[in-house]
Amino acid sequence: MSLLKLLIFHPILMLSAFTGTAHGYYEYMTAECVYSTSDYSDMVLLLSYSFNHVMHLQYNSSVGKFVGYTEQGVKHAEGFNKNQAYMQQVKAAVDTFCRPNAQILDSAVRDKSVKPMITLRSARQADGSRPAVLMCSAYEFYPKKIKVSWLRDGKEMTSDVTSTMEMANGNWFYQIHSHLEYTPKSGEKISCMVEHASFSKPMIYDWDPSLPEGERNKIAIGASGLVLGIIIAAAGLIYYKKKSAGRILVPN
Ligand SMILES: *[C@@H]1O[C@H](CO)[C@@H](O)[C@H](O)[C@H]1NC(C)=O
Repeated sequence: MSLLKLLIFHPILMLSAFTGTAHGYYEYMTAECVYSTSDYSDMVLLLSYSFNHVMHLQYNSSVGKFVGYTEQGVKHAEGFNKNQAYMQQVKAAVDTFCRPNAQILDSAVRDKSVKPMITLRSARQADGSRPAVLMCSAYEFYPKKIKVSWLRDGKEMTSDVTSTMEMANGNWFYQIHSHLEYTPKSGEKISCMVEHASFSKPMIYDWDPSLPEGERNKIAIGASGLVLGIIIAAAGLIYYKKKSAGRILVPN
């Protein structure tokens, strides 16, 4: 049975109870299939009927009947529960609606994981008073579930670690940023470890303290600027020299 059929089938008429109020009315029914196992053994169907944002009654397949939450809802729940033909369809919906749809959605969406792009960089260098901060970022991954952790010589560090929530890009992809505040010691190895459904094993990214990328970039930009400046100055000078050499001096 399709969801549409479920919706059309139900003969709910709550509107009559709410006539006389000023603005519009909004009645809706949601069908939720809730599960966390891949074999769908814990599948639960929830059918919720709401009117103007108030949920009046709900069917929970673990309970096996409709339960009303308002005066009107209690009446409708009673009616539904007595309607054997309808209840038969609702009870079958875990198998006819939830499980097949979950299968379609999982193979089309959930199981299509996308690997994150990882960057590991220095967010702050250590100075006399403050420890250094490293930032490990994962971009453009799917699904949302991810774990980013920090290792010092292969052992997980738990203190001085702060992490953002997974942030939705709005295009099905997510990003997350994790910071580690630490006092660098020579000879140690700091790594960022990322675990995600798209990886067959945890991925470890080692921090290379000899090349702080920010500094390297600043030096590179400065050096290119200097070279460019010298070239332009030299070109200008040559141009000026050529021009003044080509001028004919006319005696007066
Ligand atoms: C559905 O009913 C079961 C059993 O009473 C309960 O454990 C579960 O929390 C209910 N689900 C929801 C979303 O209300």
